[in-house]
This record gives sequence, C-alpha cells and structure tokens, in this order.
Amino acid sequence: MQAYTARAHTNIALLKYWGKANPQEIIPTTTSISLTLDEFYTDTTVQFDTALTEDQVILNGETLTGKSSEKVSKFLDIVRSMANISTRAYVKSTNHVPTAAGLASSASAFAALAGAASRAAGLELSLEELSRLARRGSGSASRSIYGGFVEWVRGVDDQTSFATPLVEDVDWDIQLLTVVVNDQPKKIDSRGGMQHTMATSPFYQAWVDNTNALTVPMENAIANHDFTQLGQMAEANALQMHATNTTACPPFNYLTDASWTVIQMAAQLRQEGIDVYATMDAGPNVKLISKAADTDQIQARLRQLMPDVTTVVATPGPGLQIVEGEQI
Ligand code: DP6
Repeated sequence: MQAYTARAHTNIALLKYWGKANPQEIIPTTTSISLTLDEFYTDTTVQFDTALTEDQVILNGETLTGKSSEKVSKFLDIVRSMANISTRAYVKSTNHVPTAAGLASSASAFAALAGAASRAAGLELSLEELSRLARRGSGSASRSIYGGFVEWVRGVDDQTSFATPLVEDVDWDIQLLTVVVNDQPKKIDSRGGMQHTMATSPFYQAWVDNTNALTVPMENAIANHDFTQLGQMAEANALQMHATNTTACPPFNYLTDASWTVIQMAAQLRQEGIDVYATMDAGPNVKLISKAADTDQIQARLRQLMPDVTTVVATPGPGLQIVEGEQI
C-alpha cells in the first residue's frame, strides 16, 4: 500500500484541557482554545504492509517498544477498524519538538499520525473527522489539525467533540517565547496528572467552571486582537490549572523554582510596561505570550536572571499537511 507523510505542528493552549469527562473516548471537561506554533512540529510517515506481523514504530531513529509503541498500535487499531483492514503498519516519525518536556509533543505526534495513517489506510477523512480521530490518540492533538487560533469544543460524545479553527491566518503580533528551564522528560505525564487531579482536588470543579466561563471572552479577545485581555485570561487559567495539581491528594507540581522565576519576571516586566504573560503545561517550561517587538527586552532580562537558559521564539503556525510518499 502507498506510504503517506503528514506534518502537524504542536499547539499551546491558552485555555487548557485538563481532565476527561469520558476517558475512553477522550471527551474533555472543558472547551479549550489554543495557538498552533510554526517552529515545533512532527513529520510522520505511515505505510501498511501485509508482510509485517506487527506494527513497527520508529521515533527519531529509534524503534519504540513497550508502552509507547502500544499506544501507537492502539491508535492504529482505530484507523484499521475505520478502514476495515487488519494490515500492520510501518510508522516513522521525527519530532521537531523536545519530547515530553511540556511542549506538548503528543499534540503534533497524534495529529500527524492521524493524517498519515488514515490516508495510508485508504481513508479520505474531512478535517472534522481528522480532529475527532486525532483526539482519540491525545486530546490536545484534536487542535493541531488546524493552524492559528483553534477551539476544541468539548461536546458530549465522539461525534460532537472536535476542534474548529477560530482564525487560521494570524495577522497580528503575538508569539510564544518558550523558556526551556528543563528539557528532561516529565515524571507525571499529563494523562495521569489530570486524572489524579480530577479525582482528588477539591478545587477541580471550580477550575472547570471558570475555564468554561472564559470560552466566549477568549473568543472575543482573539477576534478583537486584544492582546492584554488574552494574556491575562491565559495566565490566570494556567495558574488555576496548576493550582488544582498542588491541591490534589497527594499533591504534585510541574512547576519548579526556575518556572516561578520566569512567571515572576513576567509580572515584573508588566509593571515596567511590557505586555507579557506566562502559560505552562504539564512540565516546568514557561511559554511567554509576548509581542515580537518586546523579544529583545524579555531575552535580556532572562539572561540577567538565568544566564544559561535556552529560549525558542515560536510564531503562529499552519494546520495539517499530508503528502503521498516519504518526504514532505
Ligand atoms: C496541560 O492532550 O497530552 O497540555 O489526552 O491524555 O493525551 P491526553 O492529554 P494531553 O493533555 C494536554 C494537557 C495540557 C493542556 C492542553 O494542551 O490543553
């Protein structure tokens, strides 16, 4: 069968997804809103081959075994059942994202896999169907089907829970300056973390209610290019999400002293008139929602506080691309 290659870019949530109403089908408790990024992406080639007795998954040149390859095979089973085939597949994936460091590599990984695997299996899915399929691999992947600002409407079941684009071509000054305070794999993955928090934090429901109440205000801030409103809501939402983790039982925390140094630096810079806000996911790295015009000043302050820290500036990026063959 023909090989297909897909490229999907990762996305960072401005309003977060942090908990599942239905863990089997990955139906979230909140509607989330994200920005797809240009600089971080995954390229994945899939070819179904009758000569294979099991799926073969190669990530960044290494053959996956155990839990990671099972997760891919389970996802491929969904594609196989949709396409009514039982053939095993060869999957080759290259991640242009620091894996498992809180830069949401599973979002681009499962969006690219959904694109390449569905086409390689002979399916011609719509973007809505691709978003629903990617969601089954990893919730945040549903949003990486589209570029720019994207909203994953939580829905109530598999048919109704998928992402839609808010603004695909972002033509105003907004960027995410990622501060890589630690690029080691995180200890508690997002799947386990959100499940534990949802089950044990007394503040969990308040976080859900607050997040869902921000859907329309966040849509408006995006439509109005209101950077300050967007940044304030995104930072508050991220901090509230992390507060559910520190109030879980037992508590856990993705944020380190270095993360807090960056979060406080953003607050200090705001006092000095620079519009910059922090958002953090299931890891210690901090993404600074900022404007290109302020990059030099932000970088200079960071260097004073943390001379060895690595930063990556990421701008709004495109949606899923799928091509025939092994090269994109
Ligand atoms: C903190 O999509 O990785 O990045 O659906 O269990 O695979 P699973 O979780 P995942 O969770 C992402 C959580 C987050 C917030 C977000 O991206 O909305």
